[in-house]
Amino acid sequence: MKVFVTRKIPESGINLLKNYHTVTVSEKDRVLSKDEIIDQAQDAEGLLCLLTDTIDSEVISSLPNLKMIANYAVGFNNVDVETATQKKIPVSNTPGVLTDTTAELAWALVFSVARRIVESDSFCRDGKFEGWAPMLMLGQDITKKTLGIIGSGRIGTAMALKSKGFDMNVLYVNPEHNSVLESEINAKKTDLSTLLMKSDIVTLHVPLTDETHHLIGEKELDLMKETAVLINTSRGPVIDENALLNALENKQIFGAGLDVYEHEPKIPKKLKQLDNVVILPHIGSATKETRSKMAEMAAENMLQGLNGKQPSNCVNPEVFE
Ligand code: GLV
Ligand code: GLV
Repeated sequence: MKVFVTRKIPESGINLLKNYHTVTVSEKDRVLSKDEIIDQAQDAEGLLCLLTDTIDSEVISSLPNLKMIANYAVGFNNVDVETATQKKIPVSNTPGVLTDTTAELAWALVFSVARRIVESDSFCRDGKFEGWAPMLMLGQDITKKTLGIIGSGRIGTAMALKSKGFDMNVLYVNPEHNSVLESEINAKKTDLSTLLMKSDIVTLHVPLTDETHHLIGEKELDLMKETAVLINTSRGPVIDENALLNALENKQIFGAGLDVYEHEPKIPKKLKQLDNVVILPHIGSATKETRSKMAEMAAENMLQGLNGKQPSNCVNPEVFE
């Protein structure tokens, strides 16, 4: 069968696919438009796509041979799963392999913001360091502080467990109780307002859905401590970016660490001008090991789906009912 891959990914995944199928990888090392995907995947049975690809009902309906969609990401808000399900097309994602990698990036952001690492680095490079000073680059402590986890799925749980060395109080918001967090680090389940009012570090680990869109807006930012740090490694639209810009400008919170943006890849100019925010180019899962594992996982799911089997990481198992 034919598999179209929308952009170059690590070879290990491509090679797995090539053992069984005819594989075409987009030659353009950039995001493809919907029309380009429709054109290039026209006769493909398998579509291996990225979180930057819009796979909506128009795209799905325009690919007559399509039998399987493997998304190279854990988040799959870029795929219209409902339409795929109606057409009996399984959709898979890449959970688990990027959990620790993304949790590590969230911690990197926590320290970067709380200890003003990026700002301090620029300060040195700009030749401004004239010696140790009592009031230079004062930040926020982490040890024994309160960590607020919004969304305690795989990544939120990993983020929380890594706080062990810093002896933190951990609060979490999640639809269900998380017995691992409760037994291992005595984390307490709470409501969003309480978490925002009590936490020194607030970190987002929810998928983007209608319910989580603008979960953090003006009202929620108002509840946060003036010394608090907000981290987002999930999806940009979970935060109302304009509200966050205002809160950062007015120093309503201490700072923010962002890996994702509301209108990605656009980053508001104003955000780039602020010192109290660390901005990254969506690199949560970006390590060599993890990206190879994601490629292999996406490829294995593709092989299973094209074989008529339920992929191991199928997000719409209803297709097989
Ligand atoms: C990255 O953002 C992913 O969803 O894998
Ligand atoms: C800092 O460098 C100290 O010695 O307190």
